Amino acid sequence: MPPPLTSRSQGRRHADRQAEARLRELTAATQRVREQDRTRISRELHDDIGQLLAAVRMDVGLLLRAQGLAPSEHHLLKQVDSRLHDAIVSLRRIAAALRPHVLDHGGLFPAIQALQHDFCKRSGMQCSLFADEADLQLDDDDFNTGVYRIVQEGLHNAIAHSGGTAVTMSLYRLDHQLLITIADDGKGIEEADLHKPGSLGLLGMRERVLALGGDISIGKDEGGGTRIDVTLPLPPAGPAEDNALPPGSGI
Ligand SMILES: Nc1ncnc2c1ncn2[C@@H]1O[C@H](COP(=O)(O)OP(=O)(O)OP(=O)(O)O)[C@@H](O)[C@H]1O
Ligand SMILES: [Mg+2]
Repeated sequence: MPPPLTSRSQGRRHADRQAEARLRELTAATQRVREQDRTRISRELHDDIGQLLAAVRMDVGLLLRAQGLAPSEHHLLKQVDSRLHDAIVSLRRIAAALRPHVLDHGGLFPAIQALQHDFCKRSGMQCSLFADEADLQLDDDDFNTGVYRIVQEGLHNAIAHSGGTAVTMSLYRLDHQLLITIADDGKGIEEADLHKPGSLGLLGMRERVLALGGDISIGKDEGGGTRIDVTLPLPPAGPAEDNALPPGSGI
């Protein structure tokens, strides 16, 4: 005899929840592997090709200081030196974008500040950051990386697609959640763009949010422009401030 409808629908809800949890775990694992690959490639670019280019530049420096160079040879070597310098700067930028050193050694707040400065400088857009450093002192690599990548893609899109002049990021802790908003004053995202085939940025954002068990909404803001709202449950360990000594208790 078939089970009563209520227990059948309860069973289906249970199966749905299990499937959702499995999908979340799988997505988190995929993101982790992707991030490990980025870290490895970034380190190899920096330590391997970066060191090689630096060594070649030192050799060019030695040649430039050698006696008896014809002016045309000196000019050519100067050009080689300048191109090597540009290549080293580009390589550092690419390696840093793959895996920012500051995220591993400074934490989420300075990493997001560095994103803000970098994007501001390169785009000419006005980038404002509203965040409390204490809210972002979280000791969870998956969480920090996820938040960083979400903000990075939001900023990148604002600069690449919005046509606006200003972008605002805010990151606040409310109860046991982190609320992230990225909003620009551009033309606003179209409904059809939300699932554009071949576009990976928004998809990646959604995957990160799913892996961290949060929610995301992307759409046109009331006053025009695009607005992205993300809510993420804080990782279990919570911010470092929870374990901090009360003020005045000394070292
Ligand atoms: N801030 C924005 N303002 C206006 N349109 C936007 C904005 N962000 C995204 N879009 C639109 O949504 C589309 C999808 O964005 P998505 O980040 O997924 O892909 P992409 O930026 O085109 O490519 P990539 O895969 O390199 O991220 C964009 O091509 C753009 O048309
Ligand atoms: Mg994009």
